[in-house]
Amino acid sequence: MSKKIILLVLAVIAAAGMVFAGGGRQADAGKGLIGVAMPTRSEERWIKDGDAVKAGLEALGYTVDLQYADDDIPTQSRQVEDMITKGVKALVIASIDGSALSNQLASAKASNIPVISYDRLLMQSPNVDYYVSFDNYKVGGQMGEILVTGLKLDQATAADPVIIELFAGSPDDNNSVGFYQGAMDRLKPYFDRGVLRVPSGQIDRAVVGTLRWDAAEAQKRMENLISANYTGSLVLDGILSPYDPISLSCLEALKAVGYGSTPGKPLPIVGGQDCIVASCKSILAGEQYATVLKDTRSLGAATVTLIDDIMQGKTITGLDTTSYNNGAKIVPSLLLDSVIVTKDNLMEAVVQTGYHTAAELGI
Ligand code: BGC
Repeated sequence: MSKKIILLVLAVIAAAGMVFAGGGRQADAGKGLIGVAMPTRSEERWIKDGDAVKAGLEALGYTVDLQYADDDIPTQSRQVEDMITKGVKALVIASIDGSALSNQLASAKASNIPVISYDRLLMQSPNVDYYVSFDNYKVGGQMGEILVTGLKLDQATAADPVIIELFAGSPDDNNSVGFYQGAMDRLKPYFDRGVLRVPSGQIDRAVVGTLRWDAAEAQKRMENLISANYTGSLVLDGILSPYDPISLSCLEALKAVGYGSTPGKPLPIVGGQDCIVASCKSILAGEQYATVLKDTRSLGAATVTLIDDIMQGKTITGLDTTSYNNGAKIVPSLLLDSVIVTKDNLMEAVVQTGYHTAAELGI
């Protein structure tokens, strides 16, 4: 065989190899399956979160197993187990009870599956690789700030103290700790000066917490607070609320006893969190005073980038490596910023950014 022919044969073999390899790449075109476990579809924010993470990952060529667990812990455990069995390349978990998934996380570790704790910190397990969330303490500070400005606490006097009641989030969600601590630290100087008072005396986070963030439970507690403390001349001026549906149900309980429709009994100043459509409408109607917007699109995008970087073996930068100890390790965290939304900036912060459309808000 002449040299020329040998070269030609080698070239044909090489080209065939490339086609073969190319065919293989195409067959594997997907970058792999990612498991995304969300707590419940019954809350607006988690639907937005799930959609944002799924769309972002799919745009990069991943396939996504997105599951919601109806706020049922055994269902979520099963879903995570199934994802591991299916051979996911990474897990994104927004837990129901942060401490309930240790066995599943150990299995993920044994299969070398990186675990990203999404929004809520997975607790009491060394098998959590990253935490992507908002700065929960700062979010709490914003909840407190809403009361400081809404109730004009800087102008209040001890002779005529401002009257509030306190609500906290689910005790099994570590975020509740940061939210409450952040809010109470912001309010502390006013308690210390005697210009802020909680007539029920219910202040401990364990007492003011709301299991599973259940708005109906919060409404019952508000009704009990009203009948125990506010049947006389005492008027409630404000409520610390960690979650929009809790804010709205407290407002319902208060409207039912004449707040907002009786002279001398305006609706109290109530904040919230999540910037849900119903609360935006309430804010525009002058009822709920404010909320905290945690843009789920940014959280989703940060998570998608993190996963893709992990998959490509890149070094992850910009991590907070001190703030989030889950009881077993300090979990390296990516923490985003949140925004207070009142009637004054709602159009700019919510509608113009496309978080909710004008049509969704009925405007
Ligand atoms: C989230 C909040 C949400 C709450 C109830 C918390 O863990 O951080 O944004 O309002 O859960 O779903």
